[in-house]
Amino acid sequence: MDKSLLMELNMDIGDERFNHTLRVVETAVDLGKRHNVDIEKVKKAALLHDCAKFQGQINLLKMAKDFDIILDTYMEYNHDLIHGPLGAKIAKTKYKVEDKEVLDAIYYHTTGRENMTLLDKIIYISDYIEPGRNFPGVDEVRKATYNNLDKGILLAMDNTIKFLVDKNKVIHPNTIKARNFLLMELNSKPR
Ligand SMILES: [Fe+2]
Ligand SMILES: [Fe+2]
Repeated sequence: MDKSLLMELNMDIGDERFNHTLRVVETAVDLGKRHNVDIEKVKKAALLHDCAKFQGQINLLKMAKDFDIILDTYMEYNHDLIHGPLGAKIAKTKYKVEDKEVLDAIYYHTTGRENMTLLDKIIYISDYIEPGRNFPGVDEVRKATYNNLDKGILLAMDNTIKFLVDKNKVIHPNTIKARNFLLMELNSKPR
């Protein structure tokens, strides 16, 4: 991506989020190489995954509506989730990304989805384990991810779901669907 767009991204999301983004790129490229995923796609998706995390007071709900994004009830309720779908739209319009796989990885990075692509998985988990993350349990997820990508994601989703339950928060159904799918797939494979 050319320098002026990178600077624009930095301006939009602020230094802290931009630095997180660079660490996600680094982790995602590493994982992408291990899993033979197109590195250009990995870089693009990782770089833009949080492009809708605007700094300052921005009304994400209004912005999503202005872009004609159809939000589900959960997103209308929990605005933290909006930057996935909104990010995909901004990646397309502002950063001229046409690749549906890249746009989907951005769209679903906050929740996951049923039957995730390898690119979806790499962006989702890199966001969770990038080296700046230091919440309880993250090291176990890192280890699991490098042993078996699906098991790492499953553990990350388990932790997320448990955290949300403990905090009495709503769980997006895509996260439940993603977890169920991974679990059933892992359990049906010979061990
Ligand atoms: Fe995000
Ligand atoms: Fe992120």
